[in-house]
Amino acid sequence: MFNHFSTRTRRSALGGSAVALLAAGAALVGVTMPSAHAADTPLRDLAAAKGIYMGTALMANELSGTSGSIAGTQFDEVTPGNEMKWASVEPNQGTYNWGPADQIVSFAQQHDMDVRGHNLVWHSQLPNWLTSGSFSDSQLHDIMIKHVTDEVTHFKGEVIHWDVVNEPFNEDGTFRSDLWYNQLGQSYIADALTAAHAADPAAKLYINDYNIEGTNAKSNAMYNLVKSLKQQGVPIDGVGFQAHFILGQVPSDFEANMQRFADLGVDVAVTELDVRMQLPSDSTKLQQQASDYTKVMNDCLGVSRCQGVTVWGFNDATSWVPGTFSGQGAATPYDENYQPKPAYDAIQAALGGTGSTTPPTTPPTTTPPTTPPTTPPGTGACTLAYTTNEWNTGVTANITLTSGSAVNGWTVALTYPGGTRTITQVWNATATQSATTVTLKNLSYNASIPAGGSTSFGFNADWSGSDPRPASATLNGTACTIS
Ligand code: XIL
Repeated sequence: MFNHFSTRTRRSALGGSAVALLAAGAALVGVTMPSAHAADTPLRDLAAAKGIYMGTALMANELSGTSGSIAGTQFDEVTPGNEMKWASVEPNQGTYNWGPADQIVSFAQQHDMDVRGHNLVWHSQLPNWLTSGSFSDSQLHDIMIKHVTDEVTHFKGEVIHWDVVNEPFNEDGTFRSDLWYNQLGQSYIADALTAAHAADPAAKLYINDYNIEGTNAKSNAMYNLVKSLKQQGVPIDGVGFQAHFILGQVPSDFEANMQRFADLGVDVAVTELDVRMQLPSDSTKLQQQASDYTKVMNDCLGVSRCQGVTVWGFNDATSWVPGTFSGQGAATPYDENYQPKPAYDAIQAALGGTGSTTPPTTPPTTTPPTTPPTTPPGTGACTLAYTTNEWNTGVTANITLTSGSAVNGWTVALTYPGGTRTITQVWNATATQSATTVTLKNLSYNASIPAGGSTSFGFNADWSGSDPRPASATLNGTACTIS
């Protein structure tokens, strides 16, 4: 991959506004947007003129179609939603699967976006071999250093900001008792940062957490950690504030709290912003949400070391919220049909945008549907690429489903001719099983597959007897080809 390293100096972007205006002009002429906001200056250009970036989380199955075009037009930094996490990149020890993350990096390069790497050391989305490997402390230490080194090296020059350590604290400010802390003690944090810095000295290295936006026990603990890392000369460049907010609950002291971190001599960033509400949404809630987004944008703009704001998914169709917080959703700036919400207007306005001043030059023709039409289940060809990595008692199965027709919600059933499998872990899907069948269903964020599109998921299982490949497979009840 070629080196793409944009240097953005916060608030010193001389000429930045000229560039932004030019880009804005180009956007007025050429870009098709699926809304009356077509003539708005893209958020990324407004943000650049203010000296910050405007980012979004994005998953590998969102790079084309409407989602790809909005992401590439409106945002200038991308955080892979899952594709750089440990279970994704190192599903088997020492064997790396860079494909999905590389696709996102290429997309970013094609759209002149920076990449925020997320993440290197975390308690969640770890592969089974790691969590049940019963490694000694020193083995675990070496595994962590190797993973950090290999991943940062792979993306050297391509990832500008790294979330090196994610979510190290409990709410009361004690260290989270996870694999890393329990076996390695708090020194794992300094060691991971040091290894990342050695692998790519130019990348900006962050610790990232949630519920540290206001001043509280957890943010005090983060503050003390960062202060002590700085004092010890550990390479720490920034603190990421995830900012997964509940409607109306953005802490009033968010800006002041970010400022106290900045005063330690580190950058800050809002890394995973969303504002969730009890569904259904209504106009009152959406207005409150818009105010919440306004506040967050202003809080970042108020701190000169705040590098930018990333939304954790830009649209309600693929947001992680409904799948994680029961009954809640509508947390992002675009609705499920990729139409901008009041929260989008709020971000726009906070960045100095004036909204759409020119009416569309062509009368709106019938808008093509922005969600893929839901076809009867199973129509059109489907194929399942089924690959495994087996060891004496276990197997990792990776599956890529390609659907000939658009589906919204999928159930894949695999029927095995023999052997028994007990699933121990599943990713990008939920799994149930009976004696010879494994049934996998979509999560909310990967429910829809456009015609000809694909999505990848998989599982780890313990097997006994034998572990043959499935003899047959179905998508929503209709047979698929297994390749
Ligand atoms: C979430 C993803 O968005 C989901 O798709 C996945 O199932 C679980 O993880 N904090 C983080 C992110 O740092 O990595 C999480 O992302 C959301 C909470």
